[in-house]
Amino acid sequence: MAKDKVKESEIAVHWQEEGIIHPKKEFVDQANMADPNVLDRFKAENWPDCYEEYAELLDWDKRWSKTVDTSNPPFYNWWVGGKLNASYNCVDRHLKEHRNKAALIWVPEPEEEAHQVITYQELWVRVNEFAAVLKDECGLKAGDRVTLHMPMVPELPVTMLACARLGVVHSQVFGGFSGEACGDRIVDSESRILITSDTYYRAGKLLNHQEKADIAVKHAESQGNNVDKVLIWRRYPGKVSSNSKMTDGRDFYVDDLLKRKKGARVAPESMDADAPLFLMYTSGTTARPKGCQHSTGGYMSYVAGTTKYYQDVHPEDVYWCFADIGWITGHSYIVYGPLANAATAVVYEGSPAYPDAGRPWRIAEQLGVNIFHTAPTTIRMLRKLGPDEPAKYNFQFKHMTTVGEPIEPEVWRWYYEYIGKGEAVIVDTYWQTETGGFIGTTLPALQPMKPGSCGPGALGMQPVVLNDDGNSVEPGSAGNLCMKNPWPGRMQTIYGDPDRFVETYFGKFAKRDSKKWQDWPYVTGDGGTLSEDGYIRILGRVDDVINVAGHRLGTKELESAALTVEAVGEAAAVPAYDELKGRVPELYISLKPGFDPSGVDVQVKNTIEKMIGPIARPSHIWVTSDLPKTSSGKIMRRVIAAISNFMDPGDTTTLSNPEIVEPITKQVQAAKKAMDAVPEGERKKLELEVQNFGDD
Ligand code: WTA
Repeated sequence: MAKDKVKESEIAVHWQEEGIIHPKKEFVDQANMADPNVLDRFKAENWPDCYEEYAELLDWDKRWSKTVDTSNPPFYNWWVGGKLNASYNCVDRHLKEHRNKAALIWVPEPEEEAHQVITYQELWVRVNEFAAVLKDECGLKAGDRVTLHMPMVPELPVTMLACARLGVVHSQVFGGFSGEACGDRIVDSESRILITSDTYYRAGKLLNHQEKADIAVKHAESQGNNVDKVLIWRRYPGKVSSNSKMTDGRDFYVDDLLKRKKGARVAPESMDADAPLFLMYTSGTTARPKGCQHSTGGYMSYVAGTTKYYQDVHPEDVYWCFADIGWITGHSYIVYGPLANAATAVVYEGSPAYPDAGRPWRIAEQLGVNIFHTAPTTIRMLRKLGPDEPAKYNFQFKHMTTVGEPIEPEVWRWYYEYIGKGEAVIVDTYWQTETGGFIGTTLPALQPMKPGSCGPGALGMQPVVLNDDGNSVEPGSAGNLCMKNPWPGRMQTIYGDPDRFVETYFGKFAKRDSKKWQDWPYVTGDGGTLSEDGYIRILGRVDDVINVAGHRLGTKELESAALTVEAVGEAAAVPAYDELKGRVPELYISLKPGFDPSGVDVQVKNTIEKMIGPIARPSHIWVTSDLPKTSSGKIMRRVIAAISNFMDPGDTTTLSNPEIVEPITKQVQAAKKAMDAVPEGERKKLELEVQNFGDD
């Protein structure tokens, strides 16, 4: 990053360094981890054995003989020789003490539909019976990959745990993604079975989800990957609510298959600690999504430990993480982490503000939720739509989490005052699909909160901010946020592409000939600062990834989808500031000669939505006569990003077509004049984000 000397204070014109806030005594008195010695136990000199404290939270079939094998960086193997099963750890082992305690409470979107309370006993029954379906009807066995494309229904955790029971590697694709996006992930993971749902509710509508399965299978088959079976969970078992046709011999309703499995029990497969548990696809700098592969032992120990210490989940708590299980947050902090801790986890089907912005608070009141977990985008939205709603309901959280994007101190304070009612502690958890669990945040009873900073490195983590030469910058200066040390929750590799794994996360700073892990810092892809007090401030992505409402989109993914529209000759995606979503993608396109521009913008928007999903829909498509380019013909994204965000495009004299900048600026800024005020602090952060944007 060129500007490693930018001071935090300069970046933070809008986000002043905030004062610290301590948790309330009531919280500290009941916290799972309030012993300050824990900070010593996890000091750098106690790495890696400090993490045994996490591994010991699990039940092992066989204890590990070595904490971590780092002999082949950056491929590390945690809990060498250990054996365990994730499903056993989340379900079976709790039966003795918690058989009749709620494991999951499912809240359907329609308010008139009853909640489903699934006890640990009931979860055990469902997981066993569905595991029997996977084993007997689909012939699945340990190591096979299966693609799931399911919405927020209780059958999703049941399916994940049934896979884990058999050692089958699940790859859940976010339900909002398109059939095509699902098909690409089927191909990449070489899945022969697709597990999906027929319908689900979203914003008051019963959506036909099954139709995406037909598209996904066709799309996979066109790339040479046949899908043998599609298992369809029904929103209303026994009832047809999707108008998609069933394909004979391929499509099966799960409720039909389960009829033959009543009472079936499947012994949990004893897996090696380094056996893969699941894949989670995420966007990167090329159009192809990356299948982040997470391990059974390392991942499970990390999410069990961080859920206990950071989420402060006790068995008697009611914990509601408002994320989608289709993202990593849901995997780690709705399913695996909470269930490993015998928690009660709430799973909500639908939109946050349906039918009104009071809905979350009614759910919280009714279920007695006392731990709440959501993203800044949702907080901003609820604040905008219903600022007075939280006060109308009788709920009290002890603990709240924010995740996925930087949270502005102003929004943080609203969260603290209005939703937490000035009582709840807040943890701002910084992490990634790749990291498995939190890597930067505060230990809620021991480390004070500082709005706008996520907190220090999580226990055992050694964060560092490096300039482009690989040297540490001064405290408070911006640079590439990296993690010096390996940790158990980190992904093992990119499925099927170990070279890409090495390049993406280590390529920038690794001493490639070295076999010492110290020479292989993990590069997060985020810009950040580390203050004198060790607190991290995240400034946003420094690669070609746009964080839209906490969801990652690769600019290349958007561009390659746009380029499938016949009229489009060139396309470039850039992030633009958005008050609610943090960033939204804008797309600049120029047309092939002889094509008529009318209607192209809508066509491009629809194509992107069809190929990726509604979350990728650009907020604006700018059809321009040409795009700013370097003399070698590369598109200068930095310049158009500056235009979209009302920033100074900088020196444009090196462009081969500098004359284009002015007309594009006029075209775009005249149309967008309503948003001419990007807050100062945001503008600085955007500058950092876009200065590294790829030019091609
Ligand atoms: C961003 C989500 C600021 C960051 C768990 C990261 C955050 C990307 C925070 C990962 C936070 C996540 N503060 N930014 N607390 N948490 N991010 O893979 O840019 O969907 O690299 O994982 O989200 O997104 P992902």
